[in-house]
Amino acid sequence: MSNLSFTDRIAFHFILSSGILLFMAFAVTFLIAYLTVNDRVNDDLIQESSQHLSELYISDGQIHFKDLNEWLEREHNTVEVNPVFIQIVDQAGNIYEKSPNLREEVLPFDKSDSSYHFFDTQFNNQWVRQVQVPFYDGYDLIGHLIVAISLEDSKAILGNLRKVMFLTYPACLILLFFLAKFYAKRSIQPVKEIIQTANTINKENLSTRIKLPENEDELYTLSVTINNLLDRIENTIQREKQFTSDASHEFRTPIAAVKGTLEVLTRKDRDPEHYRDKVAYCIGELNLLHNMMEQLLLIARAENQHLETHIERIQLEETVMQTLERYKLKIEKYGVKVVFDISEPITVQTDRNLIAIILNNLISNAIKYSPQGGKIYITIAKNKRGILLSIKDEGIGIDEESLELIFDRFYRSESGREQAAVGSGLGLSIVKKLCDYLSIKIDVKSQSQQGSEFTLVFDK
Ligand SMILES: Nc1ncnc2c1ncn2[C@@H]1O[C@H](COP(=O)(O)OP(=O)(O)O)[C@@H](O)[C@H]1O
Ligand SMILES: [Mg+2]
Repeated sequence: MSNLSFTDRIAFHFILSSGILLFMAFAVTFLIAYLTVNDRVNDDLIQESSQHLSELYISDGQIHFKDLNEWLEREHNTVEVNPVFIQIVDQAGNIYEKSPNLREEVLPFDKSDSSYHFFDTQFNNQWVRQVQVPFYDGYDLIGHLIVAISLEDSKAILGNLRKVMFLTYPACLILLFFLAKFYAKRSIQPVKEIIQTANTINKENLSTRIKLPENEDELYTLSVTINNLLDRIENTIQREKQFTSDASHEFRTPIAAVKGTLEVLTRKDRDPEHYRDKVAYCIGELNLLHNMMEQLLLIARAENQHLETHIERIQLEETVMQTLERYKLKIEKYGVKVVFDISEPITVQTDRNLIAIILNNLISNAIKYSPQGGKIYITIAKNKRGILLSIKDEGIGIDEESLELIFDRFYRSESGREQAAVGSGLGLSIVKKLCDYLSIKIDVKSQSQQGSEFTLVFDK
């Protein structure tokens, strides 16, 4: 069964069920035909027996014909296709009279049951059905009228019907099997087309998509699902490519700067002041590289779930204050003003160090991308979604296109670069990875030139 093809399996299940149904239909038809034919024979027998009974009378405890000669004459003359045999016997089974068409033959008499009853017997190599009608004189049984009708016709009709059914049943099943196979094949054709297209898609032509069928059925949904999956894969591969080129670019710049500076220094002797300046510059660039590598390492660890965490209940307000303390000088330098909206002390279950990294990045961005003297609103609140911590600024904002990309590694928007020269574009991807790691939801709302709002949603 398991090595049958899909279409064969459908066809097989189809004929199995239709085979059972067809068998039931045939059986019911045969039963109805059988009962109808039987009823007809019984009706004929009843009619014949009552007609003959009306021609008989009893006297002296014996059965007599009202007009025996006329009866014999009539029975003799009628030429019937389906003959009716009549026989009259006494209570011991001795024959009084019988119809001439019986000739030498005798209809069997059932001595065991003297009541009115039907039974099938064989006589003269033919099947007949008999009715045995008791004859009473008062309470005394004096004999029986036996009427018999040939069953050959009925048997022939039922036999033919059985033969026809016997032959048509397998023929119908075979026909149904091929029909089912044909339709199953036709219905599966679109799936084959999907498979064919899917097979041709590889890394080089990832932008190929499966043609959507005209009918919006299950196959349409399947095609859309596969196309969406391809969209996501293509997107991821695109981002990976972008990451590799961005990363090499980001690393190349400081390395080239250090290399160039050192090469120039070796060309001729300089005074110690000059060396000190250049070495300090190189250390600065190497620090940049070092930080970038640390950040990438952090992202990789968060992605691979290799971060050590210590989950505890922490005061959100306290953590925010510690972060602001760290950026005190920067805040003063940019002249930004921090406005709090913290209605009550709220605690959350999380990792103190990782949440500090998240807040560092969000707050440093808010400061960095704010105009001179801008305001930063920090809100901590509870609502039905959970515990919210939002950091909102009135800075350069993020346009719609960039909004989808800001969490990518090394991504920096055009306006971001203009506003702040320093930055690796790794901050927000660290934020995103750590939020995922700690099951914190992060939302961004931003409009170009209007400001941005980053909201962290913690479980209650
Ligand atoms: N508060 C903000 N206001 C405007 N733009 C922002 C803000 N935060 C982040 N961005 C944009 O997202 C980019 C990525 O941010 P991030 O990953 O922290 O990198 P970086 O701060 O090094 O530029 C930034 O370059 C900037 O374009
Ligand atoms: Mg940043």
